[in-house]
Amino acid sequence: MTNNTLSSHRADALRGVSSIPGDKSISHRVAILGGLSRGCMEVSNFLCSHDCLNTLRAMEQLGARITPRRSRPGFGPVDFTLEGCAMAPKQPQTDIDCGNSGTGMRLLAGLLSGLPFESRLFGDDSLSSRPMKRIVDPLLLMGAQIKTLGEKPGCAPLAIHGSRLRPIEYHLPMASAQVKSAILLAGMLTEGCTTIHQPALTRDHTERLFHHFGVPCTVDALDVTVSGPAAPIARDIAIPGDISSAAFWLVAASICPNAEITLRRVGLNPTRTAVLNVLRRMGADFDIAPAPDSETGEPYGDITIRTASSLRGTEILRHEIPNLIDEIPVLAVAAAFASGTTHIRHAGELRVKESDRIAATVSNLRAMGAHVDEYDDGFSVAGGNPLTGCTLPSYGDHRIAMSFLIAGLAVPGVTTLDSVENIDTSYPGFAHDLRSFAFYG
Ligand code: S3P
Repeated sequence: MTNNTLSSHRADALRGVSSIPGDKSISHRVAILGGLSRGCMEVSNFLCSHDCLNTLRAMEQLGARITPRRSRPGFGPVDFTLEGCAMAPKQPQTDIDCGNSGTGMRLLAGLLSGLPFESRLFGDDSLSSRPMKRIVDPLLLMGAQIKTLGEKPGCAPLAIHGSRLRPIEYHLPMASAQVKSAILLAGMLTEGCTTIHQPALTRDHTERLFHHFGVPCTVDALDVTVSGPAAPIARDIAIPGDISSAAFWLVAASICPNAEITLRRVGLNPTRTAVLNVLRRMGADFDIAPAPDSETGEPYGDITIRTASSLRGTEILRHEIPNLIDEIPVLAVAAAFASGTTHIRHAGELRVKESDRIAATVSNLRAMGAHVDEYDDGFSVAGGNPLTGCTLPSYGDHRIAMSFLIAGLAVPGVTTLDSVENIDTSYPGFAHDLRSFAFYG
């Protein structure tokens, strides 16, 4: 693995209008459901990040065909025609590489558990240390034959011997859209009704895409039921921009002087917009122009954000955590520029993301000069202490790297992050956007 660095400096202004790359969660699911579907579909604004390209390649290994219409040089297709394998997938000839992506591995494991062949899924060092028991347990209840082969117990690689599954009714022990979706994908291949009871609302992209692709699925408050076996039917889709990527610029504009940035076609699915509610409570100054209609069932719109006249600390509420789990590192950066204290608790899941994001965020904020208290399940940031640029580890984690490069736009000195090649797992073009939004002298 290379160790590229990237630096940011205090900007005098932030200006620009930009489209944000496609939503990561939706892109994974479109690759999987479209790759399995009957027929051909046009996919636009696919996130051609390493994570989602790995999932797309996995579906090609199963027999899906991709004809690119527009690609991002050095990455892969953004707009393409996807011809599904018409529910007749073939056994992959090699082990499936999920790279850095927990979403890719967990969702594919759900799918592969119900397909009639053997397969193996592996990932990088970070992914090989993340918990897989959370999907293995419910899949075993469905009759799946799935084993974790990792050095660390309960971790990848995964060996799957596809089986005929039985439907289950499952109470999710944690609020996880990845676990829910792994079970839903297995349930889609299973005869009967598979029902999941969630402890809290989690992102509902799988349910919305089931609806888009004609897979029977009902949602009743926190309960989701899929009726199988069902085959997704190919239907064109335009993927909205990723609000988790937009969040970097929402915070950047809020903490930098002379900022006005417009982000086009950002996904506004209500199970993902808590970051906007929290920023609003903190005093962020933005307008949203929602698009009138969304054929895909995923709302989106343009967001224009300007420098906040003042930011204040807030408490992120327990029920908001699953909705903004990926935005917490960059919200912690905003908190360091706010008056008063920001409290983030009930977020122990952050310890098992691409890095231990509680430890990484706390350590990097402290290195820049912030006052932070760390807890098992979160942290508190006492805002207002002046921060200074320095050299920081990214812990091999794309969101930690981007969050602290954003902090660097608003502090004296140079802020340098290591291992920034990881940014490509979710936000190809971040370095370009960093250069094009920031103005100096
Ligand atoms: C995701 C769900 C979240 C999130 C991840 C993507 C998804 O994970 O952190 O980046 O696409 O389902 P959990 O739901 O497991 O917390």
